[in-house]
Amino acid sequence: MRNWNWLFLFIPLSLTTALRAGDGMWLPLLLEQLNESEMQALGMKMTAEDIYSVNQGSLKDAIVHFGGFCTGEVISDRGLVLTNHHCGFSQIQSHSSLENNYLEAGFWAPDDAGEIPNPGLFVTFIVRMEDVSAAALRGVTDGMSEAERQSTVDKNLAAIRAGIELKPFEDIVIRPFFHGNQYFLFLTETYNDVRLVAAPPSSIGKFGADTDNWVWPRHTGDFSLFRIYASPDNEPAEYSPDNVPFRPRHHLPISLDGVETGDFTLVFGFPGRTDQYLPAAAMRQRTEVLNPIQIGVRDRSLEVIGTAMRRDAQIKIDYASKQARIANGWKKWIGESEGVERTAGIARRRDLETEFRERLRAKPQLLDRYGGVLDSLDRLYAAQEPFAVANTYVREIFNYNVELFRLVNMLQRLVTIYDNNGPGAAAERVAGYTRYLEGFYQDFSLDVDRAIARALLPVYFTEVQPAFQAQLAQDQLSFVGDRAAVLADTLYTLSVLTDGDRVLAMLNRDVEGFVRQLRGDPLYQFVRAVMEHNDTAVSLPYNRYAERMDPLQRRYMAGLMAAFPERRFYPDANGTLRVSYGQVEGYDPRDAVTYTPKTYLDGVMEKYVPGDYEFDVPDRLRELYENEDYGPYGEDGRMPVCFIGSNHTSGGNSGSPAIDGEGNLVGLNFDRVWEGTMSDINYDRSICRNIMVDIRYVLFLIDKFGGAGHLVEEMTLVHPKAGR
Ligand code: ARG
Ligand code: GLU
Repeated sequence: MRNWNWLFLFIPLSLTTALRAGDGMWLPLLLEQLNESEMQALGMKMTAEDIYSVNQGSLKDAIVHFGGFCTGEVISDRGLVLTNHHCGFSQIQSHSSLENNYLEAGFWAPDDAGEIPNPGLFVTFIVRMEDVSAAALRGVTDGMSEAERQSTVDKNLAAIRAGIELKPFEDIVIRPFFHGNQYFLFLTETYNDVRLVAAPPSSIGKFGADTDNWVWPRHTGDFSLFRIYASPDNEPAEYSPDNVPFRPRHHLPISLDGVETGDFTLVFGFPGRTDQYLPAAAMRQRTEVLNPIQIGVRDRSLEVIGTAMRRDAQIKIDYASKQARIANGWKKWIGESEGVERTAGIARRRDLETEFRERLRAKPQLLDRYGGVLDSLDRLYAAQEPFAVANTYVREIFNYNVELFRLVNMLQRLVTIYDNNGPGAAAERVAGYTRYLEGFYQDFSLDVDRAIARALLPVYFTEVQPAFQAQLAQDQLSFVGDRAAVLADTLYTLSVLTDGDRVLAMLNRDVEGFVRQLRGDPLYQFVRAVMEHNDTAVSLPYNRYAERMDPLQRRYMAGLMAAFPERRFYPDANGTLRVSYGQVEGYDPRDAVTYTPKTYLDGVMEKYVPGDYEFDVPDRLRELYENEDYGPYGEDGRMPVCFIGSNHTSGGNSGSPAIDGEGNLVGLNFDRVWEGTMSDINYDRSICRNIMVDIRYVLFLIDKFGGAGHLVEEMTLVHPKAGR
């Protein structure tokens, strides 16, 4: 019985798509109220309480925030954690060398003792969550200034925190939702001993690399395995050889029965950030102005890195992770801007705004409260734009793509500590900075970075308004005859920062001398001049606008909720635990083209290009394919690889489990389809799909390809469709 259908009768046509399942990243503790009946109508056999419960073990006890940037799930009673290959990528890379190249060959720990610790890596469970809106907003009134409001909320949050007693390794996270109209609290528990257990070779875990990234049909085995270790009494603990495999409250059973079109799926994880309620003006700015800037800058740095990686095997290892990160954002922005344009996203958002305004006019008390909000936002976005443009260039060039420039900004914090708190305080930071610098220089190539600087400095000088450029930078540029690339070379020749050993030696010899040396360093001076000028001429006015926009965004959000009371709203992603749900289904990306929702190993072989850096296939995998040696994991003589569904996901959902209607693991989320990369700002039910690895492919790779059947043995395998 589809018991929500009657709702559609009351909804204007333009909004119906927004209401069907697929759209939404829901809060686990509100499922019963908002989603349970719809989920069950879509095929879910569980209750909301099975998914999230504070009183009994539930699915949420198997879900972890992996390193704070991805999701993972516990899949055995010995703390085995499944996540994506690209989520474990920098760990896999850091254990790799030319002799022992786990990126290339894969890694399969033969036993517990062979699992590799990862200092700094952690996983976090959600113990419970709570709506604390009333307590957080106590004493807040409409008439308050923004500053008063903030200080009232801050005091309230501090009081909430003070009222909760924490065990070691527990923490409290309180986040604003719906642009500050609501607040939720999360009690977390963090485990710091997380070891690498297994990873397929990149030719499987990253099959298709950048060409296939963000694209369906897809054939990537994007998984890796880690294990949580705990103290002998099963409590969180820092790394110790005496730690033992963690015994979780729940681990996900794994279905061997596969999925078909129409099957219910649920994705449980930690989406990072979405902006679903942007005004049309902001959507235009993002997709037509700011995305193209970021794309253009990264075009240039990717060109440099790509050339170097193809030429040099060591650089290919060292830059693998950086390249993937830079390219991932670059390609997503291209897809997002294209998608918004193709679906007329801005015009549709304007239609929504027209309707919003009409509804306000029809209700005087709403008009009173929310009238004029959109007009003010539009004006502020327009006024802020020149500053947003300059900030975007400076962030991409000086805080992201050129590594030595970014390093300056890291080291500047040490200088600030030195200035504000004295040499003693700075000396206390030396150990931390030493660790950071060791990591930094470990995979740093002077040639590559200088070439990136040569490619990007001209962009700064030509694209950023002269008034927003630092005087010192302009002076130095004219000193070298207005040739920005020559300036880059000069700075790199004169700077000590190009020499990691010397930097580390100086830092550890004496902080005072180190700080003095930095201050006299031409590259350091150059970058600091750019940043300081940007701070005052660009960031300051930018932030002033932002401060005026925040309360308007909050009111606009409240206005939408008041003006469309029949509509079910979900909060933007903010790195907190969410449930998305939908069905396994394909889509029609363009005229005359229909995508089916499942791919098979046959497709890997179709894409196979021997020796190619993106589409090579390991011999062993081709052999298994030729022999159809799929063990219990195949489906009618074929090996399923990936599938797609209408689950609303975002960055951070990588590694999230795809769960069937009974709570079993059927897939591993890792991406979205090209036409739907715009879903962070412009979700469209008809073409937005998430991409998952079929769990049977993961098991096949572990068992048949990796020869690590002992790992499969510790899992709980089930046959729900066969009733077993
Ligand atoms: N697009 C996916 C995500 O946003 C996968 C990224 C990793 N893969 C890659 N080829 N860079 O994380
Ligand atoms: N690959 C993304 C991540 O790292 C998840 C996919 C997405 O952005 O939808 O979280």
